[in-house]
Parts: sequence; structure tokens; C-alpha cells
Amino acid sequence: MNLAINQFRVLLIDDDEDEHFFIRDLLSDIKNSHFLLTWKSSYQSGLESLKNESHDVCLLDYRLGEYTGIDLLKKAQELNIACPIIILTGQGDFETDLQAMQIGASEYIIKGQLTSPLLERTLRYTIKQAMDMEDLKDQKEKYKKLLEERTEMESQILMQDRMASIGLLASSLAHEIGTPMGVIRSRAELAQKKALDNKSLQQDMETVINQIDRISKLVNSLLNLARSKPSDYVTAVNVEQVINDVLNLLKHELDRKNIALQIQKLQPYLVKSESGPLGQVLLNLLVNAIHAIEDAKEHGRNDSHSIALSFEESNGLVTILVTDTGCGISQVNLNEVFKPFFTTKDIGHGTGLGLTTSYKLVQSWGGSISVKQTSALGTTFKINLLKA
Ligand SMILES: Nc1ncnc2c1ncn2[C@@H]1O[C@H](COP(=O)(O)OP(=O)(O)O)[C@@H](O)[C@H]1O
Ligand SMILES: [Mg+2]
Repeated sequence: MNLAINQFRVLLIDDDEDEHFFIRDLLSDIKNSHFLLTWKSSYQSGLESLKNESHDVCLLDYRLGEYTGIDLLKKAQELNIACPIIILTGQGDFETDLQAMQIGASEYIIKGQLTSPLLERTLRYTIKQAMDMEDLKDQKEKYKKLLEERTEMESQILMQDRMASIGLLASSLAHEIGTPMGVIRSRAELAQKKALDNKSLQQDMETVINQIDRISKLVNSLLNLARSKPSDYVTAVNVEQVINDVLNLLKHELDRKNIALQIQKLQPYLVKSESGPLGQVLLNLLVNAIHAIEDAKEHGRNDSHSIALSFEESNGLVTILVTDTGCGISQVNLNEVFKPFFTTKDIGHGTGLGLTTSYKLVQSWGGSISVKQTSALGTTFKINLLKA
């Protein structure tokens, strides 16, 4: 800052015109700086000027008709007006001086003692201090932002840590559980075949096999989740083909539940992905959509329900939107849905790994997945994939 050559805007709020001339003359005697004086003669016009115009400093008379300068000072503080305010007073009064300081006045000067050099110096110091305060505020703001970024980073690292330990756990779990599960499954199949005339035992064995498959699926989900490096198997995958495979699996379920399926602008787009896992991601989203619609029905929304799949292509990306007419996601849960083991479903119905796994997979292909919008009337998930 160069206070020697600058021009400064000074606001004078004083109900006495003679005082205005007096201050104006003192300011015009000042050699080194140029002060542009604006004069307001009442509490109201002064306040308006403080609010709406920009001044470097304000000289505020203690006596202002039915108000005092202290009243106006208080109001200015309430409104967070940044302009520094100097209280002018006819007679020195230590109590008022103290009060003015406590409320936030920058200075307090007695008019009778005022000379041109004293006024110049007071204005210069006050303006400098106000500028320093602004700098300090800026720095504080920057520091706060930095701190926020750091906190955000820390929580990301924590999340990665958690993922890493889940990964470790998953691979040893897969080994420890996979082998005995395979043995149990093949024995169950064998027993099922042997129980030719025993329908009830056959059904029991069917249940055993189904439950084993559920466990295997869970272990596989965990394994997918554990994979953090970009996959070696990324190829050009035909989106249309994957969608058709997935829909073949789900058609029956959708019909049974009276859910209409709308498909818009599906083309044989080629994207960087893996066909099996991409199918898994879409299946996860569609199964979630079916669950959300079931939930909406349970809460009395029995009107027609649908799931819409729509596709777009732009800027090297293929976007897939999955929109359902289900129960929606509450604001509180919105930040949680991609986290491992977050589920709102009953035990046995949800693992809380579907979206986490999908997130990791899509990310490993260089794409992204997010909730585009949600309300009590449904949700849209959005997947962006890189064009191959
Ligand atoms: N389409 C959707 N509509 C409403 N809620 C959803 C939807 N998709 C996911 N959710 C919420 O996100 C949670 C996590 O989903 P997910 O990771 O697939 O695990 P899970 O389905 O096993 O609960 C669900 O329990 C549900 O609360
Ligand atoms: Mg799910």
C-alpha cells in the first residue's frame, strides 16, 4: 500500500454544517494525500451511505440529533460494515471513549484539539490498520480452507485404509471359506441326486445349495471390492450386449412385480470396461431399483412403477442413467450409500456392498458413478464410462 500517493474517501456524519466546513478545511490543508470528503447530516442518511457506498474511513460525530454516534456505531457493527469509524466528540469524556472503543470504534478524537496534521495522521493510521485487518481476515479464511481440505483428505485416507483392510480380510476369507464351500456344495448336489424319491430331502438340499451360492456371491463381492488397481482385463465392451444379458436375467422378476421397463437410445456403444463386472454393476443398480420400488409399494404407493434406462454419448463418455420410481434416498443417507456395509435393508436382504463394489469397479475403468437426483418419488443413478 502506498498511503502517500493514494486518494482516500472520507465520510463525515455530523449534523452541524459548520463542522463540515471545519473538517473540509482541515483536509484541504493536508499536503501529501488527497481526501475526498462526503458529508451526511443525519443518522439515517449516514447509515445509508455506510451501507451502500464505499468509504475508506468514517468520521462520526457523537451528537446526531435525537441519536448519538454510539447508536450509529452499534448499528454499523450489527450490519458488519467494514469501514473503520472514528468518533468525533466536542468534549473529552473518558467513559464515552471507552464505550466507543468497546463497541468497535477505531479511534476517538476531540474536535477542539484537532489540527490538520493530527487529522491526517489519525486517518492514515486508521486506514492502514483497517487494511491490515482485512489482510488478516483473508489469511484466516485461507487457513480455514486449507484446514478443511486437510480434514477432507484425512477422511479419504481413513476410507482407503478401511478399504485396504477389507481387501486383506476378503482375500484370506475367500481362501478359507471357498474350499470348504466347494466341498459342501458338491456333496449337497450329490445328496440331492441320491434323494430321488424323497421330495422333501431334495428340497432341503436345494435350500442348502442356494444358501451356499449366496455365501459365495458375498465372498466374490468382497473380492471385487478388494481390487484397487486398474484391472488388466479392461477391454472394449459392448454396452447393448451387456444390458441385454442383464435384462434377460431380470425380465421375469420385473414382470412378476409389475414394473415397466423403459429403454431410451440404447446403441451398441463400446466402452472401456469388463463385460462380466459391468453386468454386475448394472444388476446391482437394477436390483436396488426393484427393492426401492418394493419399499415404495409397502408405504402405500401402489400406482404404476417403472425403471428407465437411458443412454447418452458425449465428450468421449457414454452415460447410463438408471431411474426408478422407488422410495428415494433420504438426505442423511445420501452421503452413506457408497460406503462399505451401509444398508437400510433387513438382515439377509442387503449386504451394503453392492454400491461400494460398483463404485470401485467403475472407478477402476476410469469412469464414475453417482446419485444424480433423488426424491420421495424415485432416484436416478448415473454411470459415466470412457468410450473405447
Ligand atoms: N435406487 C435406490 N433407491 C433407494 N435407495 C437406494 C437405491 N439404491 C441404493 N439405495 C440405498 O443404498 C443402500 C446401499 O445399497 P447397496 O450398496 O446396493 O447395498 P444393499 O442393496 O445390499 O443394501 C441401500 O440399502 C439403500 O438404502
Ligand atoms: Mg444393493
